[in-house]
Amino acid sequence: MKKIKWMSNESFPLEMHKARVVQNLNLLEPQKRLEAMEEAGFNTFLLKNRDVFLDMLTDSGVNAMSDKQQAAMLQADDSYAGSETFFRLESSVRKMFGTEFFLPVHQGRACEHIISRSLVKQQQTVLMNYHFTTSKAHVMLAGGQVEELIGKEGRILNSDFPFKGNMDIELLKRRISELGSDNVSFVRMEAGTNLIGGQPFSLKNLEEVSKVCRENKIPLVLDASLLSDNLHFMKTREESCHPMSINEISLKIGEFSDIIYFSARKLGCARGGGICTSNEALFKKMQGLIPLFEGFLTYGGISVREMEAMAVGLEETMDEDVISQGPIFIEFMVKELLKRGLPAVTPSGGLGCHVNAMKFLEHIPQEEYPAGALAAALFIVSGARGMERGTLSEQRDENGIEPLADMELLRLALPRRVFSVSHVMFVVDRLEWLHKNRTLVGGLEWVDEPEILRFFFGRLKAKGDWPQRLLEKFREDFGDSL
Ligand code: F0G
Repeated sequence: MKKIKWMSNESFPLEMHKARVVQNLNLLEPQKRLEAMEEAGFNTFLLKNRDVFLDMLTDSGVNAMSDKQQAAMLQADDSYAGSETFFRLESSVRKMFGTEFFLPVHQGRACEHIISRSLVKQQQTVLMNYHFTTSKAHVMLAGGQVEELIGKEGRILNSDFPFKGNMDIELLKRRISELGSDNVSFVRMEAGTNLIGGQPFSLKNLEEVSKVCRENKIPLVLDASLLSDNLHFMKTREESCHPMSINEISLKIGEFSDIIYFSARKLGCARGGGICTSNEALFKKMQGLIPLFEGFLTYGGISVREMEAMAVGLEETMDEDVISQGPIFIEFMVKELLKRGLPAVTPSGGLGCHVNAMKFLEHIPQEEYPAGALAAALFIVSGARGMERGTLSEQRDENGIEPLADMELLRLALPRRVFSVSHVMFVVDRLEWLHKNRTLVGGLEWVDEPEILRFFFGRLKAKGDWPQRLLEKFREDFGDSL
């Protein structure tokens, strides 16, 4: 997306693409939205997409593909072993990161499974800038534990610090020396740190982490699922990156990391995933697990059509106009919320707009899941579905104790090239109304709580009759409008 000056002071994101295929949307009437939410156990993951107006649950697997990606899908070479498609994809990955070996897998968490199974031994620790739900679960499943070494700025919801995803280098050195490098399986850096609001790390920080890892002979694993946003932020926020092309930055990233893995549901706007490395020993450790858990080495459980789309999508990620669309739309949405006095995470990050639910719903204690309640309330008043990123997304420890999340966020994902400015403005309008009526919103409690990754399919209910009262007030103010 280009920086274009408008004659008036007002400026809007201007897309450098046009839509040629569209999908009709359905906005249910308010009563039906309440019923759908009740049926979904107040968990937005359990809503049916036919009942959703604007699906802001995630950016995973729902980004718009380009015409070139769609065209490439037609040339897919369907073969169990040695398909041309694989070699095209391998070459795109090599151009991007400069890495020698590539292992395709069916999605991001499959990378995490293969990497954790290969590198984590019982009782070992994985040091991370910040955890992601599936990355932590796979380390724990392999018998390890996770420690987060995010810089202090990362835990502050509102600041103007440009790289809140940075790792604290002094803390990293200290923890390695305290634990002993043999007890650290690997260090994991997550681009566009998901759970703290899609916040990037700087290239300089990655370089420093890499240096410490190499001195201590600990592999550095990069989760590049949200790298496209992070690349945009490096290019625009980091002075040393201004003169570099996106591809020059991604090659540097490849140089600093020992393993790079990604969910192609995000990076490359397709579906699937992959693990890249130039380290032959690490490659060999992981290679044998691919045919066992994913599929043969040249398809890894992915449809070859998607692999073709991924190959083109990764190349398109080197285009600033393509990768800036998400962050610029998100920045616009965050500014509109702030203008209205609504609390959102700043600086705006990638993936989506993150609303601070603890501030929005100050009266709801964390144990009653304010971010989950806000997601439910927003759906009832707008048909837009977001995702809870807070305590509900945590996992109880072995004693059944629920850790309270650092942040209670309602994430409103903006899948890349999917929504328009008017869609964004509609959600901003409904959030503003909700904020004015926030005391009507109450908490949630469990009805059925799964042990692992409970947020995906657990069921909850409202504490009291607040959803009905919220709906009544909505009707009072909006009449028969949807
Ligand atoms: N790493 C990060 C940073 C992610 O955001 C995700 C997925 C994964 C790994 C796992 O990838 O879904 O392909 O298995 N994030 C999605 C989300 C689910 O909605 O944020 P996957």
